[in-house]
This record gives sequence, C-alpha cells and structure tokens, in this order.
Amino acid sequence: MTTRKNALVTGANKGIGRETVRRLAALDYKVWLGARDAERGETAAQALRDEGFDVEWLALDVASDDSVAAAAKTAAARISSVDVLVNNAGIAPGYVEALAPDGRYQRPPSQEDIAHMKATYDVNVFGPVRVTRAFLPLLQTSPAARIVMVSSYLGSLARASGNSQSPNVMGYGSSKTALNAISLAFARELAPHGIMVNAAAPGYTATDLNAHRGGRTVQQAAEIIVRLATLEPGGPTGGYFDENGPLPW
Ligand SMILES: NC(=O)c1ccc[n+]([C@@H]2O[C@H](COP(=O)([O-])OP(=O)(O)OC[C@H]3O[C@@H](n4cnc5c(N)ncnc54)[C@H](OP(=O)(O)O)[C@@H]3O)[C@@H](O)[C@H]2O)c1
Repeated sequence: MTTRKNALVTGANKGIGRETVRRLAALDYKVWLGARDAERGETAAQALRDEGFDVEWLALDVASDDSVAAAAKTAAARISSVDVLVNNAGIAPGYVEALAPDGRYQRPPSQEDIAHMKATYDVNVFGPVRVTRAFLPLLQTSPAARIVMVSSYLGSLARASGNSQSPNVMGYGSSKTALNAISLAFARELAPHGIMVNAAAPGYTATDLNAHRGGRTVQQAAEIIVRLATLEPGGPTGGYFDENGPLPW
C-alpha cells in the first residue's frame, strides 16, 4: 500500500483521456490508465512510463458490469483510496460518417440509429454510473476525492435551444445531457462526504472521436478536466464548466 495520491482515468489509451493521465501524473499522482483493450492500454501506459511518469494500465471496459467490478477489485487489492476519478471514456458511433466535407454534421435526429444510441448511452451514461458506484468505497476513503465527468457542450440544453448553429446530434448530445444530470445527482449525494463532482466540457478537440476535425488540442481539452480533478477544498461541486467558467445547463 502506498500513501501516494491515486487517480483513475477511464478510456485513457488515447485522446483526451491519455493527455489527462499525463497531466495528472505530472502533478505527482500515481495514475491508473483505464482501457478496455490490453494491448492498447499497456502500450499507452508504457509510453507514459517511458516519459518518466508513474502510470499503470487497469483493465476497464466501462460498458461491462463484470469488467468494472473486476477493476475495482484489482485496485482495492493494490491501493487504499482513489483521490481522483475522471469518467472520460466516451463514444459517438455514426458521428464521423455523418459529417459533410465541410465538417458540418448532417444526420437529422429522425434518422439516428437506435442501436447507435443504445451503445452510446451504455458507454457515456451508464459507464460513469457503473464506474463511480464500483469505486465509491475507494473514493470515500480519500480525504478529499474529486470526480470529473467528461461531458460536452452538446450536452447543454440551454446551448441547443438558444443556438441554431449548434450541431443537432441527438444520441450523443442527449447522452451528455443525461451525464450532466447524473453528475449533479452524484454531487448531491456525495457532498456530505467531501467528494466534489463536476462535469467538464473540453471543447471540439482533434481526436479519433471526430476523425480529428476538432479545432482544439488535447492539451487544451485536458485543462478544465485537470482543474476540476484537483479542486481545493471549498471549490464548486455539482457544476458544469469549461476552462472559462460555469456553463448553462
Ligand atoms: N473530441 C472532442 O471534440 C470531444 C468534445 C467534447 C467531449 N468529448 C468527450 O471526451 C471524452 C474523450 O473523447 P476523445 O475525444 O478523447 O475520443 P477518443 O480519442 O475516441 O477516445 C475515447 C476513449 O474512450 C475509450 N472507450 C470507448 N469505449 C470504451 C469502453 N466501453 N470502455 C472503456 N473505454 C472505452 C476508447 O478506447 P478504445 O481505443 O478501446 O476505443 C478511447 O480510449 C469522451 O467522453 C468524449 O465524449 C470529446
């Protein structure tokens, strides 16, 4: 058992998650790099170890109850607490295929595939619920745990209703709206335990999720996630933020 602070980031073998691992490791956390695939997870963890960081792959498929339970058991055998949980794993099936050459999203809600929506909800909505519940015993033994839900501007109903330019991505966007609600629900439950729970909007970022169409870098995207993961006592909980401050739900 170690007294070092521990962080867990889900879906962290690439993209925003991997950069978040790097940033937390640079802040001297031991970081558990959650990934569902052994080769992708171990390769990413080894690359970060080669940079000098204390990073270990943790087998974690957020869509599987069994995988999440096994990951929590593995972690509990190695460490006594988790200080930071970043629920980052996310998918947007069908999104890239629906982009026009100019980058505009073109699939109307009435043509969204329900199988895609169900898969999206299983990872983006139920995934964070599964992982948060399974790791709660380890989070509660931390003196000041922080949970960050990686949301999106597309989860904001205020933004969607007030801005016709906002892409109308029904399945993915509504999964992030649900995630925002879940973030607030956990924040209310866990506030008495000193655990802060907030949702982060990283902005449209060049990753595999959007075939690298996003205009932001993973370094920029990780900024608000790391800030919310390392809040001082007395900081906000139950909020929805980008790097410039609170966002309208
Ligand atoms: N990129 C953007 O513009 C943007 C904007 C707003 C919010 N976000 C959010 O940011 C988060 C990270 O996205 P990203 O852009 O970095 O995308 P990405 O590069 O596609 O990375 C997504 C990560 O999630 C993992 N993942 C997918 N399904 C999983 C599962 N069932 N269990 C565990 N891990 C799983 C992927 O693993 P595999 O390699 O095994 O598939 C990958 O590591 C997501 O929640 C996304 O919705 C992204």
